[in-house]
Amino acid sequence: MIENQRHLFDIADDVAYLNCAYMSPLMKSVQEAGRTGIAVKAQPWTITQEDFFTRSARARELFAELINGDPHSVALVPAASYGLAIAARNLPVGRDQEIVVLEDQFPSNVYVWRELAGRSDAHMRTVTWAEASGAGNAGTDWTSALTEAISERTAIVALGHCHWTDGSLVDLAQVAERCREAGAALVLDITQSGGAWPFDVSEVRPDFLVCACYKWLMGPYTMGFLHVDPKWHGGEPLEHSWIARKGSQDFGGLVAYQDAFQPGAERFDMGERANFHLMPMAAAAVEQILEWTVPDIAETLSLKTRAIAERAASLGLRTDPLHLRAGHFLGVRFPQGIRSGLLADLAAQKIYVSVRGDAMRITPHLYNTEADVDRLFEALKRETL
Ligand SMILES: Cc1ncc(COP(=O)(O)O)c(C=O)c1O
Repeated sequence: MIENQRHLFDIADDVAYLNCAYMSPLMKSVQEAGRTGIAVKAQPWTITQEDFFTRSARARELFAELINGDPHSVALVPAASYGLAIAARNLPVGRDQEIVVLEDQFPSNVYVWRELAGRSDAHMRTVTWAEASGAGNAGTDWTSALTEAISERTAIVALGHCHWTDGSLVDLAQVAERCREAGAALVLDITQSGGAWPFDVSEVRPDFLVCACYKWLMGPYTMGFLHVDPKWHGGEPLEHSWIARKGSQDFGGLVAYQDAFQPGAERFDMGERANFHLMPMAAAAVEQILEWTVPDIAETLSLKTRAIAERAASLGLRTDPLHLRAGHFLGVRFPQGIRSGLLADLAAQKIYVSVRGDAMRITPHLYNTEADVDRLFEALKRETL
């Protein structure tokens, strides 16, 4: 159990911010790293090769360590949608094949597949809430529904580790195994779990895995990581930036155009990936997460959400049992639905949660105190009277 870490953030005592699934606040150390990066760009004569190359390499190493992957398989991307577009550009889909997603999945991980299916005369296969909560399941069991839905017709399975609306969990090792049996590619978006829920890329072996930085990685907005399985390292990038080509370290020689790329997954990097302020911020954030360790974060947040789930149950609100949801993430459903003005009323009291689909997401982190949770429940008690 990690002790409270609010002192590392800029959060006033009267703010109950229980909304990490929306966006994490930035640690003071991460803000400082950003300010240092801005200072470098303010005086470009101080920019060095380290800013262009070494910091990017360090960021790849840190993310690789977080998911037990290989830094050479990590590309630097601005958004989950960008990483998913790279996956869609490279994965083959045949006529009448299927692309499997979950119902109400995050749109950046749906539109790209709808477009690919349309272009390939293939079909979307959406695994529904009804299938996942079918006969005998006391909650949402995506894993069983997915293993049934994946078949020889499946070309791609694209999903997250947990559902972004309520944290309902997918057993990725099982789903990956089923994908391999069926000959389907696996594409993961772990934006809602990376940094807070353990994941081992060497065990699951997805074809592509993306994670945006600004939620559970506690980093800046417009920065993310894409892990590309070595079998796709020869694939097609979205753009053709100078820095992704072999020998780009030699600025004087850049007009000796190169057909060859930098090694590994670097060919997939976004343009201007060196990003003098965002890159050091992302690195500082992931460094702190590695210091806390993901298993300890997961354990600490699981205890927090379990206590919240118990209090929610005492008000007649429904949550998935712990074994069917990611421990860091809680979705709460109200028997009568959620009143449309409720979020605004809570925000007026400086209590912050979010609503996605029919679930209220209550997603605390290490900066939350008992007092934050008490304030939320005083308000919810009034709501459910
Ligand atoms: C599951 C998931 N993926 C990705 C994102 C962010 O996507 P993008 O980086 O494309 O804006 C979010 C944001 O809420 C999300 O919940």
